[in-house]
Amino acid sequence: MKLPKILVARAVFPETVARLRTHFEVEDNPSDTVFDAAELSRRLQGKVGAFTTGSERIDAALLDAHPQLRVVANMAVGYNNFDIPACTARGVLATNTPDVLTETTADFGFALMMATARRMAESEAFLRRGEWTKWTYDMFTGSDVHGSTLGILGMGRIGQGVARRGALGFGMRVIYHNRSRLLPEQEAPIGARYVDKATLLREADHLVLVLPYSASSHHAIGAAELAAMKPTATLTNIARGGIVDDAALAQALRERRIAAAGLDVFEGEPRVHPDLLTLPNVVLTPHIASASVATRRAMAELAADNLIAALTGGVPPTPINPEVLAQKGAA
Ligand code: DGY
Repeated sequence: MKLPKILVARAVFPETVARLRTHFEVEDNPSDTVFDAAELSRRLQGKVGAFTTGSERIDAALLDAHPQLRVVANMAVGYNNFDIPACTARGVLATNTPDVLTETTADFGFALMMATARRMAESEAFLRRGEWTKWTYDMFTGSDVHGSTLGILGMGRIGQGVARRGALGFGMRVIYHNRSRLLPEQEAPIGARYVDKATLLREADHLVLVLPYSASSHHAIGAAELAAMKPTATLTNIARGGIVDDAALAQALRERRIAAAGLDVFEGEPRVHPDLLTLPNVVLTPHIASASVATRRAMAELAADNLIAALTGGVPPTPINPEVLAQKGAA
């Protein structure tokens, strides 16, 4: 029997690839080359499914070149690399990996915020350079996390996870801004207060970004927003590059218009704005917020679950555009 053909566009756990091979003829990418658009299109010849990461762009042109493609399964919760309306218009199911990474990503967001507030990267580099010769009363003094005001922009599952850690673990006052307000029963246990964006910027001691990237969130934090923040505030971005104007942020950090930033995501990553690399008051990590072994395994398995279900008549657990399934059911 001929098995359906799929592409696993990036290197992933061998166990996941082996499981996919029990259902499909799999072309994988163990050398983990990041395919450009032309190469991705070449590799998708004859494939009905694609296992992707946030690095592979699935747009209308690619979909038009591959009318046989039926499902694209992202091993990521974010899916700004997918043109969802284009997928839906062509009856291509798109899936992502929500929930399995929520707590791990919230852990990391909180850790990055703490590292930023307490100047951990900067002080560690100082120590490694051999510059630590004596204790000093004001050496690497930062700002307190406990008891301060935590601002969250984007109060989805991960944002709520960061808020829970702050409120319940560190006695932080939580304010947030989001497209829609949480239900009172979601706000109450963490004492979260919904505020407009201007209030959030003005009042947060530590602002954490956890909103999805879209045209409307592009440069949601730029020069004007940074100018509205407290000079003692920190900014942490675990969402997506492009939500922050990195050039404006570098300038604000250099001029100490905010105290510090923690960044796990960057505009045009894996490139990093060169000015950020030269600044001491920014903690930089390479897009690893979901990177615990257990969570990355869970993400890979969930992406595989989605592919397998979509191509073998099952119910994909986490569709982004479930209307495609409804259309197929009705057909
Ligand atoms: C996600 O899941 O969206 C993470 O950012 C990894 O890409």
